[in-house]
Amino acid sequence: MADLYINNKKKLSHIEPEVYGHFSEHLGRCIYEGIYVGENSDIPNVNGMRKDVVEALKAIDIPVLRWPGGCFADEYHWMDGVGPKNERKKMINTHWGGVTEDNSFGTHEFFELLRQLGAKAYVNGNVGSGTVQEMSEWVEYMTFGGVSPMAELRKKNGHEEPWTVSYFGVGNENWGCGGNMTPEYYGNLYRRYQTYVRQYNPDRQIKKVCCGPNVDDYHWTEGVLKTCFDHTPEKLHGFMDFLSLHYYDVPGGWNPTPQASATNFDETEWFETMKRALYMDELVTRHGAIMDRYDPGKLIGLSVDEWGDWFAVEPGTNPGFLYQQNAMRDALVAGVTLNIFNKHSDRVRMACVAQMVNVLQSVLLTEGEKMVKTPTYHVFHMYRHHQDADLLESSLTGVEEIGPEEYRVPSVTESVSEKDGIITITLSNMDPGSSHEVDIHLSGAENLSVKEARLVTGAMQAHNDFDTPDVVKEEAFSGISGSGNTFKADLPAVSVVEIRLG
Ligand code: AHR
Repeated sequence: MADLYINNKKKLSHIEPEVYGHFSEHLGRCIYEGIYVGENSDIPNVNGMRKDVVEALKAIDIPVLRWPGGCFADEYHWMDGVGPKNERKKMINTHWGGVTEDNSFGTHEFFELLRQLGAKAYVNGNVGSGTVQEMSEWVEYMTFGGVSPMAELRKKNGHEEPWTVSYFGVGNENWGCGGNMTPEYYGNLYRRYQTYVRQYNPDRQIKKVCCGPNVDDYHWTEGVLKTCFDHTPEKLHGFMDFLSLHYYDVPGGWNPTPQASATNFDETEWFETMKRALYMDELVTRHGAIMDRYDPGKLIGLSVDEWGDWFAVEPGTNPGFLYQQNAMRDALVAGVTLNIFNKHSDRVRMACVAQMVNVLQSVLLTEGEKMVKTPTYHVFHMYRHHQDADLLESSLTGVEEIGPEEYRVPSVTESVSEKDGIITITLSNMDPGSSHEVDIHLSGAENLSVKEARLVTGAMQAHNDFDTPDVVKEEAFSGISGSGNTFKADLPAVSVVEIRLG
């Protein structure tokens, strides 16, 4: 039996809604088919966006959406994706399957999608193969409301008013697919390119995202920050608002591509995947420690803008499309990872799961006109209550360690937040074979009762497909009892649980 102690009088940090962000790249069937089917499709749509997908996404309160990549971003030339569709240039998507990209989804379509979702824009610019002028003009096109060549072009293309770009990424993975740069070289380019990401609207400042490390590349974090902070004005706001971090959970590693099946795995691989998910805590802590030296006031957020499970593609699908199923294992990885982000919300202020639809650890999968919600979707739905809440001090004691020697993990992880007088507790039970009891003790409240309790559970390989879309779903959690300031939760094996007290 474990004990969860919650000091509900101690708020540690604020959980920005953007920690629950998503990522959509021109990759496989994410944008095309998954989100955008075009105005003339038989699939019900509004201005080309699938109605079923938008409706499902709205229910999980998507705060921010990153686009157009990924590796695609550093090959993307935005001018090709504006203007009359029949005149838009076609290009080869060299990174992702070598397919033809017809640019029918471009800047205007992206902002239309955001309008329908009610989400903020995180646009990723091209440093790897684009010029400073191209990036600068894109920002002018999107955000300038006065008279200028790019503002006039936007109006001519049908959009009078400028849009709001909340976040702008200055390159993507520039240590790899974004140009194979050294940290010092990229750091200098970052200084230069970000200069021309102009702020045309003082009340709607664009927050700039600097390309951060891959996994545990502390050398990159150190080198980029050192270069950027050398002769940098002391006022950090406006120069760099975020440093990104990318980390994928790949059981078995890269060989040279992931070989592990998304749905066919044993307990050892289950524990390996959990251990790798928990590694996020170390990554965030250690990159955060380097950031602390340059930015002790934590003005710069860490943006984990690519995270999730990466398995072998589903048999028979295009290897370049990264289409994989999503099982209860993914639900646990999501629950564990989001608990880690909540706990580090003083530094982790944005995160984007990769990717939103039909690619890697998606919340939705589509096939023709059919759509299913994945187990990961249901976790995002429960965890939406953490968005914009305050993290409360909490800790678990007496947690049983489980799993084989090399992949030992705690059976349960947690995070706790408070918003509008309601305390949200999320717990994940990684044990594939046993339930675990948790006694919950709140120190600073006496008259609490359970307002809502939900869970997602199932066999470790359980998943939804197009013929059986509700094998895994969110349900009422009956394993909770207690009142006042003491509660008991009996977490089933393989479960992610949400308890709301008020
Ligand atoms: O999400 C798939 C790819 O993973 C992205 O394009 C790239 O940034 C990362 O390597």
